[in-house]
Amino acid sequence: MTSGSALPESAPALVVTAHGGGDVLEVREQALPVPGSEQVLVRVAAAGVNFIDTYQREGVYPIPTPFVCGAEGAGEVVAVGPDVNCFVIGDRVAWGQGLGSAQAYAAVDTKNLVHVPQGVDLETAAAAMLQGLTAHYLSTSTYAVQQGTVALVHAAAGGVGQLLTQMVKKRGGRVIATAGSAEKLETARERGADELVNYAEVDDLAATVRELTDGVGVHVVYDGVGLDTFEASLNSLRPRGLMVLYGAASGQVPPFDLQRLNKLGSLFVTRPTLGSYVATPEELRARATELFEWIESGDVQVSVGGRYPLAEARTAYADLEGRRTQGKLLLIP
Ligand SMILES: NC(=O)c1ccc[n+]([C@@H]2O[C@H](COP(=O)([O-])OP(=O)(O)OC[C@H]3O[C@@H](n4cnc5c(N)ncnc54)[C@H](OP(=O)(O)O)[C@@H]3O)[C@@H](O)[C@H]2O)c1
Repeated sequence: MTSGSALPESAPALVVTAHGGGDVLEVREQALPVPGSEQVLVRVAAAGVNFIDTYQREGVYPIPTPFVCGAEGAGEVVAVGPDVNCFVIGDRVAWGQGLGSAQAYAAVDTKNLVHVPQGVDLETAAAAMLQGLTAHYLSTSTYAVQQGTVALVHAAAGGVGQLLTQMVKKRGGRVIATAGSAEKLETARERGADELVNYAEVDDLAATVRELTDGVGVHVVYDGVGLDTFEASLNSLRPRGLMVLYGAASGQVPPFDLQRLNKLGSLFVTRPTLGSYVATPEELRARATELFEWIESGDVQVSVGGRYPLAEARTAYADLEGRRTQGKLLLIP
C-alpha cells in the first residue's frame, strides 16, 4: 500500500454487532482497514444512510456479523493498493455500493468508485450516489421516461423519491406523487410533482390515480414502499404498464400469482437493483457523470434532510425507518 501523510492506527467505525434492530449498532474504535490490491483507502467525509443498511443489519440480505455498516460514501483518497492505477492520493471520490462505508477510513473497491467533480462538494456527492444513481437508472433505463409519460412516484419526499420526481420531470414526464403528510407533499411539489396524493388519507389509492388520469391509469409506477402500496400500484397501471418494485420500506411484497398480470391488461413487473445497472465501471461512470452534471447545473437538487455524527447513528436509522425524514440522511464520521 502507498500512503501520503501519516495515518492514525485506529479510527471509529459503525459496527453491526449481530442481526437485529437499531440497538445492534455500536461505534467501535478499530484498526484502519488495509486496502486490497484493487482498493483505495478513503478518509470518509460523509457516509449515506440507506434502507439497504437496514436490510443487511436485520439479516434480510445475510452478511455474517460483525461487519461495518454502510454502502455509500465520499471522501479523499489517502492510500492506494498496489494494483490501483485510475486513482491517486488526494483524489476526491464517491461510491454507492460496498460494505463498510460508515467509518472514518474505509477501504473501497475501485470498481465502485467515481471521481467527484470540483463543482460538487463531498457531502452532496455522498448524498447523491446511491439514491441518485438509482433514480437515474429507474427513469432512464428501467422505464425510459419521455415526453408525456405519466408516472406514479411513491414516497416522493424521500431520498430516491425527490430525485426521481426531478428526473421524470426533466425528461418531460408527468408525476403523480404520493407521500404520508401534507408537509412531505409540499416538498414533492417543490421538486416538480404535478399532482399530490396523501396515501395515508385516501380510501382507494388506485381509484384516485385513475381519476387523475381520466380513468386510463399511469404508464409506470415507481414503488419503493412495497407491501403497503403494491396492490394499489398494480391497479393504478394502464394496460401494458410497468410496475417497478424497487424497494420495501413498508415490508417485503409476498409472492403473487402471475396470472393477475394477464387480467390487469398484460402488465409488466420488475424488481430492479442498482448493481445490475452499474454492472461495469464504464456504466457506473457514465451514469455518475450525467448525475453530477445535472447537480452542477442545478437541474437536480440533492436535499440533505439530516446530518448525524457516528455516535448518533441509531437515531439516524430510527428516523429513516420511522418515516420521520425527507431527502437524504448522512453520517459524518
Ligand atoms: N432497488 C434499488 O436499486 C434501490 C436503491 C436505493 C433505494 N432503494 C429502495 O428505495 C426505497 C426508498 O429508499 P430511500 O432511502 O429513498 O428512503 P426514503 O424514501 O427516504 O424513506 C422511506 C419512505 O417510505 C415511506 N414509507 C411508507 N411506509 C413506510 C413504512 N412502513 N416504513 C418506513 N417508510 C415508509 C415514508 O414516506 P411517507 O411518510 O411519505 O410515506 C418514508 O419516508 C427503499 O425501499 C429502498 O430500499 C432501492
